[in-house]
Amino acid sequence: MGQLQLLTAVVLSMCRHFQPVSAFLTYASSMQVGAQSGIQECKYQFALERWNCPESTLQLSTHNGLRSATRESSFVHAISAAGVMYTLTKNCSMGDFDNCGCDDSRIGQTGGRGWIWGGCSDNVAFGEKISKQFVDALEDGHDSRAAVNLHNNEAGRLAIKATMRRACKCHGVSGSCSIQTCWMQLADFREVGNYLKVKHAHAKKLELDKKPARAGNSADNRGAIAQAFRGIARTELIYLEDSPDYCVRNQSMGFPGTEGRECLKGGKNMSQWERKSCRRLCYECGLRVVEKRVEVVSSCNCKFHWCCTVKCDKCTQVVTRYYCEHREVGAKPQNKTKRKHRARRH
Ligand SMILES: *[C@@H]1O[C@H](CO)[C@@H](O)[C@H](O)[C@H]1NC(C)=O
Ligand SMILES: *[C@@H]1O[C@H](CO)[C@@H](O)[C@H](O)[C@H]1NC(C)=O
Ligand SMILES: *[C@@H]1O[C@H](CO)[C@@H](O)[C@H](O)[C@H]1NC(C)=O
Ligand SMILES: *[C@@H]1O[C@H](CO)[C@@H](O)[C@H](O)[C@H]1NC(C)=O
Repeated sequence: MGQLQLLTAVVLSMCRHFQPVSAFLTYASSMQVGAQSGIQECKYQFALERWNCPESTLQLSTHNGLRSATRESSFVHAISAAGVMYTLTKNCSMGDFDNCGCDDSRIGQTGGRGWIWGGCSDNVAFGEKISKQFVDALEDGHDSRAAVNLHNNEAGRLAIKATMRRACKCHGVSGSCSIQTCWMQLADFREVGNYLKVKHAHAKKLELDKKPARAGNSADNRGAIAQAFRGIARTELIYLEDSPDYCVRNQSMGFPGTEGRECLKGGKNMSQWERKSCRRLCYECGLRVVEKRVEVVSSCNCKFHWCCTVKCDKCTQVVTRYYCEHREVGAKPQNKTKRKHRARRH
């Protein structure tokens, strides 16, 4: 979902829920930045997956009739809610808001052997509260989808707390470190992304009781939803529908398919996951891998001139890249535009 779309969705939901507009305006830019960093992290985490967090599938709001509750949309909800909470919390510690500052509730207390609470602990309670207030307001339904999305938003916010760590500073005679002051700080957002990626891999499918509720009886419905959620930890991601085949382009769902995607080959230093990317994106999707030589321009031979400029040359380097394409033989006949394309390359 684009930035503007998110903003519009939040404003719409506010109007419906009568939230104070002034409060919204105070936090609007931070929420934008936060949601954006969530999406960026999604794109990083899924760069070599068949589903690679395409814009067209990022719908946080329920107003749109077309919303799925797959394993992938559970990740989108979690990382977006986490991104908003993260940014608001950082803003708070930086003193960007009048009404909040570091969490000093434990300052001066003994934390453990040889250390006391001090410094500026990130105020996650603040970020959590505001993120909950505005991101959760996008969910206006009372059905199982809304319940699943809210659960995943919460799991995203819990990921911020779960990845926080203690930072300490030494004190004592000539840095002997006989006593330390410590505070809790947010992890890098990358770590939050890594954490949620693991949750995505272990996401649980919510099994709703198939017994049809009496038509229109929302109490029955709510009871069934509550029953289904029993036994699922708040930290786990959940989904309702199995993922579609992401190899294949599905225009109505906004999935582009893997044709044309780049994959990695031949690097000695690659992880197992990277090394299998061509298999995952191309071969297992019935596509072949084509090699393309691409010119890459970069700065090189940089020299430092006293004082103080750096001058560089532009160097062009030809590198090999790999892409998924339609098979040539055995596949259905290619149409003219494609054939021309291929001929040019050879
Ligand atoms: C919050 O922080 C982000 C960058 O992390 C910044 O872009 C935004 O302007 C900040 N918000 C306020 C109100 O200062
Ligand atoms: C696209 O996805 C929808 C919903 O999953 C499905 O009903 C439809 O058959 C799919 N279309 C194609 C061309 O795969
Ligand atoms: C290769 O891997 C090592 C260890 O993981 C890392 O330190 C190094 O930067 C990598 N080199 C390249 C070229 O990616
Ligand atoms: C030819 O290829 C284009 C681009 O991939 C596609 O949109 C079009 O539907 C194809 N036409 C036929 C007849 O297969």
